[in-house]
Amino acid sequence: MTQDELKTQVGQAALAYVQPGTVVGVGTGSTVNKFIEALATMKDQIKGAVSSSEASTARLKALGIAVFDSNTVARLDVYIDGADEIDHAGYMVKGGGAALTREKIVAAQSAQFVCIADASKLVTTLGTFPLPVEVIPMASQRIQAQFEAMGGTARVRQQGGVPLVTDNGQIILDVTGLQISDPLAFESAVNQWPGVVTVGVFAHQKATTCLLATTEGVQTLSF
Ligand code: A5P
Repeated sequence: MTQDELKTQVGQAALAYVQPGTVVGVGTGSTVNKFIEALATMKDQIKGAVSSSEASTARLKALGIAVFDSNTVARLDVYIDGADEIDHAGYMVKGGGAALTREKIVAAQSAQFVCIADASKLVTTLGTFPLPVEVIPMASQRIQAQFEAMGGTARVRQQGGVPLVTDNGQIILDVTGLQISDPLAFESAVNQWPGVVTVGVFAHQKATTCLLATTEGVQTLSF
């Protein structure tokens, strides 16, 4: 089974967590794109979606799914999103698609976080995937130095030869060389650094369920 087929399989499996008549929280990325395609098959049964990025919003709207401002929906039953890494406690690294800030916002207003991923994303310790951190540009040098003091190497993410600008008008640092053994403490600490908008560790907003695509079928992990 190809990676694309695994993503399709897990995107479809996530439909089981969507209750008719509700607004669904929708993440960002290639796995979520498969979920959005699957969601379109039941678009007449849901009210719509709250989206975590301009890219997902465009896909949802193109398929005829209404997109609501997050401020107009008090509480979501479920948020469905991918991950760059997920550990055996449901803690994740996210932001490979640069949408981490809005992803964390939508996750925070959702009762459940269903992570959809292929088996390659499951890790023992977070930190092999370069950790995305959205920062305010005027603070980037100091934040890079702070990561270096922790043993990491932080680089400004580039797109087309210039720093990538997020949906929020900020930039992304990708940090390598970290072993994140205490995700809750790490997230809390880095979030306090002046100039950090969002760190891509999702520990306080961890997954409640992971649907893991394997060649033997979809495994459900509950946390
Ligand atoms: C987007 O910013 C990320 O958090 C994605 O959820 C993550 O990168 C997973 O993306 P893929 O499904 O494309 O691997």
